[in-house]
Amino acid sequence: MMNEYAFEMASSAIRVGPGVTREVGAELADLGKRYVLVFTDPNLRTLPPVATVLESLESHNVRFAVFDRVRVEPTDESFREAASAAQGDDFEAFVAVGGGSTMDTAKAANLYSCYPADFLDYVNPPIGRGQPVPGPLKPLIAIPTTAGTGSETTGVAIFDFVRMHAKTGIAHRRLKPTLGLIDLENTLTQPAAVAASAGLDVLSHAVESYTALPFGQRPLPVRTILRPAYQGSNPISDVWSLEALRLVAAYLRRAVADPEDEEARASMLLAASYAGIGFGNAGVHLPHGLSYPVSGLVRDYRAPGYPVGHPLIPHGISVIVTAPAVYRFTSSACPERHLRAAEMLGAKVEGARPEDAGKILADRIVELMQGLGVPNGLRELGYRSADMPALVEGTLPQHRVTKLSPRPASREDLGRILEESMVIW
Ligand SMILES: [Fe+2]
Repeated sequence: MMNEYAFEMASSAIRVGPGVTREVGAELADLGKRYVLVFTDPNLRTLPPVATVLESLESHNVRFAVFDRVRVEPTDESFREAASAAQGDDFEAFVAVGGGSTMDTAKAANLYSCYPADFLDYVNPPIGRGQPVPGPLKPLIAIPTTAGTGSETTGVAIFDFVRMHAKTGIAHRRLKPTLGLIDLENTLTQPAAVAASAGLDVLSHAVESYTALPFGQRPLPVRTILRPAYQGSNPISDVWSLEALRLVAAYLRRAVADPEDEEARASMLLAASYAGIGFGNAGVHLPHGLSYPVSGLVRDYRAPGYPVGHPLIPHGISVIVTAPAVYRFTSSACPERHLRAAEMLGAKVEGARPEDAGKILADRIVELMQGLGVPNGLRELGYRSADMPALVEGTLPQHRVTKLSPRPASREDLGRILEESMVIW
């Protein structure tokens, strides 16, 4: 089998500026779109970002309907509900106002309303059939209100597949939003706990994409259309991931501590998009793979700052909780990259030995977690040792990301990583 020899840079257009949300109406009018569906969640429905969008649409004579039943941490069922709303009328374009859940829901609704199919047809294998998106979708303008997912730049939509209690996703370049409007004014509504979780997601996107299996070590696909969106680390993604880490190191704590700190919030918004471009092309690996069952199997943990009415482990928390153990495990595959990531996050690495790289990076991440007051491991999130087999089983099917681990992880390795993540410090 031949290995991959090329890498590709794909990203949505993004426009960054304070107040840029107000341009959404003009943008759609210029595209010739006269009737659109706006996706948002019930909490945001009455808040300023949505009001600004609707005013802008009105003033440019773009008719709209609002779908405000986006589920935070969406499921296959909530994706289906959104898709039938999208199909129910002659919408010419879509707008997503919210966090990753809202943007991902809009991507899925766009796909299934344009190309109706059995739900699992487009879902990532091995859970779904992984069929490519058949053709272009309708325009989607994504307006993030949290500085985290980077979903405005990527062709990935993540959801909880309820029957298997596992998260999986749909991934294809054609899912990418047409335009992301990145507006500092929209993250004013972000509570501190949301800023912390979202910021740790940014950190994880950047470290995982930078330490992912290099693209040239992936098998070459038989057709170029089958080249995955997540290609492995590569020289272009590295640039974005490292710069995202520099911004996270400088601004994450400030952005969480003081929502009025505009410089910090603006920098974290940029960091989220930078990391989104990095991981949208390189991919993520074990912390994200492990996070899907960690959040999918939640029992009764209720996250401060998330008034959602159901148990929830925020995505950024479910990702970061295994990160220290993962990097201690993966560092032997590429110690210099683990050291470089640690250095970008502010660790002292002068004279460090390659065999200490994983510990140095893990320790630096733990310091950041402690500073943000996030839960100390899986136990605080409600897990016991008896849950470990189910968490391992939920991780094994996440091939799209686990196969990008720079060091292959067996069932036993995953079990050890989870055990080490029960109590972190
Ligand atoms: Fe993420």
